[in-house]
Amino acid sequence: MRNAGHLAAETLMYSGPLVREGVTTEDLNEVVHEYIVSHGGVPAPLDYMGFPKSVCTSVNDVVCHGIPSKKQRLKRGDIINVDVTVILDGWHGDTSATFYVGPSSQKARHVVEVARQCLERGIAVVRPGGRIGDIGAAIQDHAEGQDCSVVRQYVGHGIGRSFHEGPQVPHFRSSGDNLRLREGMTFTIEPMINLGTWRARVLDDGWTAVTVDGKLSAQFEHTIAVTADGCEVLTARPAVLVNSEDTAG
Ligand code: MF3
Ligand code: CO
Ligand code: CO
Repeated sequence: MRNAGHLAAETLMYSGPLVREGVTTEDLNEVVHEYIVSHGGVPAPLDYMGFPKSVCTSVNDVVCHGIPSKKQRLKRGDIINVDVTVILDGWHGDTSATFYVGPSSQKARHVVEVARQCLERGIAVVRPGGRIGDIGAAIQDHAEGQDCSVVRQYVGHGIGRSFHEGPQVPHFRSSGDNLRLREGMTFTIEPMINLGTWRARVLDDGWTAVTVDGKLSAQFEHTIAVTADGCEVLTARPAVLVNSEDTAG
């Protein structure tokens, strides 16, 4: 899991500098695909439940599962989430970040930075003996305190030999929040944070989820493992994320 997480993190870092005006989301797909394959991995999204590409690219009001396309060219001011999942030696690593096609509006920076903070808040409460619901409570409180909303249709997930397995990891308070966290559990935390309503709908392509009000959405994701005294971020990055962390705020 550490090796898979590390390759996912490196792939995301590699894609950061390529996010700029004029690049298509298909360009990003090709680069991510090549990087993963050349490092001995498999891009998990490709052919997963019929998903046609190797990475998800979610621009502006797209909440998640955006499909890379030659027709979609990045413009100044866009925000784009790149969601990388690799399989390495049979194990999965899943991580995403939202990048700025700068310069970005204050609203765009707000939702992106709140989403980044929400992931940090969620990670901060993970410890053995805690509950899965501690994560959603921490995230929901922060998001709503910053006048943002938390998407409910999509949640974090257990991960390991499978891409998506139990438990579900809601980013908001919900029923079934009582599951006890135990050392060795591996799951993702991946809050999708909106400027307007939390409600999302799926386009006719069957994948692309967009906010129903057309307002911006941002997301960050890490794969984590519960340890004896807290958690380990398996997709931690050894260096700053170009076009996301370096232009923050
Ligand atoms: N990477 C997404 C997640 O965080 C799932 C993408 S499924 C795909 O769970 F089929 F769209 F790739
Ligand atoms: Co995930
Ligand atoms: Co993901």
